[in-house]
Amino acid sequence: MEAFKPDVDLIADNAIVWQDGRLFLIDQRALPQKEEYVGLDTPHLVAEAIRQMIVRGAPAIGITAAYGVVLAAQLRHKTSPGDWRKRVKEDMKLLEESRPTAVNLAWALSRMGRLVDELGEGDPVPALLAEARRIHAEDREANETMGRLGAALIDGPTDVLTHCNAGALATGGFGTALGVVRAAFAKGKIGRVYADETRPWMQGARLTAWELQQDTIPVTLLADSAAAWRMAQGGIGWVIVGADRIAANGDVANKIGTYSVAVAARHHGVKVMVAAPTSTIDMDMATGLDIPIEEREPEELRAFAGAPVAAPDVEVWNPVFDITPAALVDAIVTERGVVTQPDAGKIAKLMSGQTPADSG
Ligand code: MRU
Repeated sequence: MEAFKPDVDLIADNAIVWQDGRLFLIDQRALPQKEEYVGLDTPHLVAEAIRQMIVRGAPAIGITAAYGVVLAAQLRHKTSPGDWRKRVKEDMKLLEESRPTAVNLAWALSRMGRLVDELGEGDPVPALLAEARRIHAEDREANETMGRLGAALIDGPTDVLTHCNAGALATGGFGTALGVVRAAFAKGKIGRVYADETRPWMQGARLTAWELQQDTIPVTLLADSAAAWRMAQGGIGWVIVGADRIAANGDVANKIGTYSVAVAARHHGVKVMVAAPTSTIDMDMATGLDIPIEEREPEELRAFAGAPVAAPDVEVWNPVFDITPAALVDAIVTERGVVTQPDAGKIAKLMSGQTPADSG
């Protein structure tokens, strides 16, 4: 992977850029110390970029994988014109296996896969690129809608707390949880955002704080272990987070630590809002217990920023997502409407296209 500079400003809203037949990603491992893009031109490099978390966040990895299919078609149609479709399908499997928890990845790939099946024998790239661009643009539009709907739930001014990064970097632009923050801040409903640092990858410290500072939204960084104590001081009206997968009963898989934050929020009378597009809802998962939870390398906990912090051979458990039961969630905000006190019936209604009773 080489460092390149596409012809756009390096801002969170331009985390994923397609230009001149190549995919550019802001390297989210390097932020905020280094602001740089990497350029990718094969599906293998795209799968590796997702695995290594150069790009992360559920909608962002779905969009990235969709562009990965375009790169696959570009390559395979040239090198194996006779069986490009079969080769592209193999590349798609590789992309799908890059991370297990966020369903947006499989969702975007299945949308691209349907088009791969339907296309005729001509050059597949223009149609696939148009579909990837649509997935990208629709995600941004969904975030703007969620921003409006989520902001309407907040009786401000209040402070809010967020966990991980569900901002423009994690999406096609604007952000899910941070989209709600952006929209509510613009309406004077949010005074300050408390950002949990989010061990072990520090998405809150490195990415959320950086994004909010770019937007000049007041932000205070917290150690994860300070979140409950901060809520106990008062003044926090809402916890606002994103999601990697939402089960049919409203249980929410999100970054490890979200569950602890939701438990603490309920104890302190703080409401919990989950902002996620419907592409994050997986009706095949009856409850959160069915959702595969990614476990990553022990080294992520044995060391910090490359320096050892634990005995080199200590046993480690490193699940990077957890499940927040629907009962701890006050509102799920999607682009199709808001579901308050989510349950299986309300989620089914939302997904079947009926506007939920309480949509904003
Ligand atoms: O491991 P990550 O950084 O990909 O985890 C990201 C999260 O958990 C986000 O909260 C979630 O994907 C929502 S992003 C809009």
